[in-house]
Amino acid sequence: IKYNVIVLAAGQGKRMNVGKNKQFIELLKEPLIIHTLKKFIQDKWCQNIYLVINPNEQNQMEELIATYQWQNQITFVPGGKERQESGYNGLLAISEEQQDMVVMIHDGARPFVEEAHLHELAHAAKEKKAALIAVPVTDTIKRKKGDRIETLDRSTLWAAQTPQAFDYQLIKEAHEQAKATDYLGTDDVSLVEALGEPVDIVQGTYQNVKLTTPEDIMRAEMILERQEEK
Ligand code: CTP
Ligand code: MG
Repeated sequence: IKYNVIVLAAGQGKRMNVGKNKQFIELLKEPLIIHTLKKFIQDKWCQNIYLVINPNEQNQMEELIATYQWQNQITFVPGGKERQESGYNGLLAISEEQQDMVVMIHDGARPFVEEAHLHELAHAAKEKKAALIAVPVTDTIKRKKGDRIETLDRSTLWAAQTPQAFDYQLIKEAHEQAKATDYLGTDDVSLVEALGEPVDIVQGTYQNVKLTTPEDIMRAEMILERQEEK
């Protein structure tokens, strides 16, 4: 199955608190965004990578990509203020002849996704039009209602990850509907949920974490070392 991927890297990384976009943080001597892009560069099923970036960082990103000689596989797209806007800009950058392929949307800050899961996800999206990688929740989750709380049935709860994969027309429509109704979701499948359409879950792994806070960096280097040994 052939697919395109939109990789979101246009954030500011405020919670990482390193004074720069966290995409440029080095993990075992290579920038975070390079580790993430490598997963898609290496996957034969992936046809084109649309890298959504902050326009102020375009030169820095271009130079970085050129040192890996990936410029022919990667198209730069200017990001927006919110993650959702960045994703929509990515969708608009995909040319008409590419739109019959599955499109994945992935966080640049999530470098540990494995090829087997990319393939499972591509299959699911081809068949069901919308799918995401998620893992069963391990914590006991409470919902607060005034001074009472209740315990949610954990067996039905999933923690959402990326990539999330779609039929192009469906996700474009979902984004347009969200825009028209001023709905801001925290991920892309939530926009499809809002349309009332079904979404398939592909079970992933707990190590497919997003690097968000400084604590995540050491853990990330441990996971990378283990992946590189394989
Ligand atoms: N992202 C983006 N455009 C935005 C906001 C976020 O492309 N306007 C990207 C980030 O670069 C990141 C992914 O979306 O790869 C997930 O977002 P998050 O982890 O929140 O990253 P940041 O927004 O950069 O971090 P923070 O929220 O701490 O500022
Ligand atoms: Mg953010």
